[in-house]
Amino acid sequence: MENPKREQWSSKMGFILAAAGSAIGLGNIWKFPYIAGENGGAAFLFIYLICILSIGLPVLIAEVLIGRTTQRNPVGAFKKLTNNKFWSYVGKMGIITAFIILSFYSVVAGWAIGYIVESAKGAFQSFKEPAQAGEYFNSLLLQPEWNLFYLLVFILMSMFFVYFGVQKGIEKGSKIMMPLLFILLIILMIRGITLEGANEGLKFFFHPEWSKITSQTILLALGHAFFTLSLGMGVIMTYGSYMSNNDSIPGTSLSIIILDTVISVVAGVMIFTTVFAFGQDPAQGPGLIFHVIPVVFNQMPGGIFFAILFFILLALAALTSSISLIEVVVAYFVDEKKWKRQKAVIFTGVVGTLLAIPCSLSYNLMSEVKLFDSNFFDTLDFLASNILLPLGGFLLAIFVGYVWGLDKAVENLKIGSEKFFEKYPVSLFLWKIFIKYLAPLLMFFVLLDTVGILKVVKNLFVE
Ligand code: TRP
Repeated sequence: MENPKREQWSSKMGFILAAAGSAIGLGNIWKFPYIAGENGGAAFLFIYLICILSIGLPVLIAEVLIGRTTQRNPVGAFKKLTNNKFWSYVGKMGIITAFIILSFYSVVAGWAIGYIVESAKGAFQSFKEPAQAGEYFNSLLLQPEWNLFYLLVFILMSMFFVYFGVQKGIEKGSKIMMPLLFILLIILMIRGITLEGANEGLKFFFHPEWSKITSQTILLALGHAFFTLSLGMGVIMTYGSYMSNNDSIPGTSLSIIILDTVISVVAGVMIFTTVFAFGQDPAQGPGLIFHVIPVVFNQMPGGIFFAILFFILLALAALTSSISLIEVVVAYFVDEKKWKRQKAVIFTGVVGTLLAIPCSLSYNLMSEVKLFDSNFFDTLDFLASNILLPLGGFLLAIFVGYVWGLDKAVENLKIGSEKFFEKYPVSLFLWKIFIKYLAPLLMFFVLLDTVGILKVVKNLFVE
């Protein structure tokens, strides 16, 4: 039975902001600056941009396209385009991946909310060294109640927006939160570049160190391009399913990619100028924002204020991403199982929380519990980011190129973008080549690398 009342975004901008909200997250503000810093600065940026354009963009277009064409969640979308049961399992893999990402993502987002409160309380005021802030962070991690409380607050906030639907919840929320995020980021970046000694940070970030680029870096850039755009598990497909046929898919996809990339670069500038201005070590990995940032802000005038802004920024970025994770699951239950949206939101929130609890306890009560040699949190992160997302993206490209077929795909892609393709006919040609041949091939390498096969092959040649 057709679903007569399926919602749509009220405008093209609504879709762009919601999708950019999903894409822009902890990956941009925390992860990107850190991996770029460690892997050759501007040289990494250059490789990353190539990956974004050659793999990110074509796969993003393909996901939006399948969503808009079928007007369905990932499972329903594949079902509508092929009778082969295998593909509805691929859709289900996306739903499961959503739960997995939601669980560990919410834990970190919970820390961000907790840090808004800690900054406001002035907890960081006596810190002079990152080591002190690090100790403080670790002492918070050891308290299960602290972790669980903020985790719950975060999940409830995410559920709130999804509860009110596509237009009144997600779109409205994104239209308020995304501009706020842009403003906060710009304030913090200006603060960063006007600090004395900021130049060192800019040099560090924009100086290309080509010698640091290895095959490993390329795989890292490719993997991150994928993660940062929220590809490979059906979020973008679901958001695309609320899009109207009047809007151009290549145009909107390009906007999303540009927003996501600009935010990553601006976040990098903000973090490195600030960290270098205070002579801190930029290569601290996951600790960077929770260890260094409180100390850094503490040493500048009005530091409490900027620290609060920073953690609000982080929490907002995470919130618009987790909203999209919940929406995929909700869309599945609403489309396929005919559940009411409200029931689906509550169910998803409860199951998501149950899965997030062990992640949250990975740093205290359950630190001894190991799954495949790592704690719960790390295992779920690895499983999603390094296996399920690239696998999902690989299968999606295969689906478009070989199962659904380029002819049908192009026919639908042209709807709403006739003018775009008249003006840039070569873009269509490029998309076909990239989605059918290049994207699957490159993602196949990422997967081989993850399972360790590339290393074995390389050793064969070296010996
Ligand atoms: N893009 C998000 C970020 O950069 C992370 C992410 C990956 C994600 N896949 C997702 C978010 C799916 C929501 C849905 O932080």
